[in-house]
Amino acid sequence: MNKAQVSFEDRKELVQKRIGRIKNKIMVMSGKGGVGKSTVAVNLAFALQMKGYNVGLVDVDIHGPNVPKMLGIEDNKLDTTEEGIVPARIPIGAGRFLEVMSLAFMLEKDTPVIWRGPLKMTAIQQFLADVVWGELDYLIFDLPPGTGDEPLSVVQLVPDVTGSIIVTTPQEVALMDSRRSVNFSGKLGIPVIGVVENMSGLKCPHCTKDINLFKTGGGEKAAKELKVPFLGRVPIDPRIVEDCDSGKPFILTHRDSEAGKAFNEIVEKIIGL
Ligand SMILES: Nc1ncnc2c1ncn2[C@@H]1O[C@H](COP(=O)(O)OP(=O)(O)O)[C@@H](O)[C@H]1O
Ligand SMILES: [Mg+2]
Repeated sequence: MNKAQVSFEDRKELVQKRIGRIKNKIMVMSGKGGVGKSTVAVNLAFALQMKGYNVGLVDVDIHGPNVPKMLGIEDNKLDTTEEGIVPARIPIGAGRFLEVMSLAFMLEKDTPVIWRGPLKMTAIQQFLADVVWGELDYLIFDLPPGTGDEPLSVVQLVPDVTGSIIVTTPQEVALMDSRRSVNFSGKLGIPVIGVVENMSGLKCPHCTKDINLFKTGGGEKAAKELKVPFLGRVPIDPRIVEDCDSGKPFILTHRDSEAGKAFNEIVEKIIGL
């Protein structure tokens, strides 16, 4: 059968065949860009791995797929077998791997993607239907900002999403931004696992005093008002930026930092669901 002739229902079935047996499927979303979704997705994935779970990370940000850069695997060449596309495997010791798949592996580097909704949907369908994941406990979806075609495609193709994690920064507008994501989840019947307040305060590296660059508490307040769980605060740490840029997962290099501990506490809550 020609790929172009595969119907939506067929594709949905193929997606289910691939990931139906993965028990926990979590979407990381936010109202706007640059709040740290990819950072949270990557660090939660590693934190779960470090606790012994097998984790896959899917980067469905068509316009800004930066998970590979954050993990230093931008030049990964995809392998295909008869069964499909093999995800990138990042060794984490003891013969274990974090499995990663990104649209970036399939797109021309630095070329902007100018696709309309239906084309995005088709790309995400094929992408999800064709990847051969290992035996995973968790599959984490790193989404682009907002409530557009990409999150909608994921939800339509993956009917049993476990829940969404909503990332926000701590300003007043956090409530407005989070509300859209909470409503989106509600309308589509996806439980909200909770809100993460990222970039929450900064400890001055010189005098160790707290600097509340974007204020603090907005995420927690938003969670309370929207009646969804609050998962925790991740402070600003310049080493997160450095690690992101150099392709090292922060949680591996700085697990005992405040931000590292915050990621681990958030993961404990997710495991305890
Ligand atoms: N807690 C934090 N402290 C410092 N820098 C952060 C923090 N969270 C994210 N960043 C940085 O902010 C930038 C945007 O983060 P990113 O995860 O790409 O956001 P999004 O996926 O929401 O667009 C990145 O350069 C990242 O390193
Ligand atoms: Mg991102």
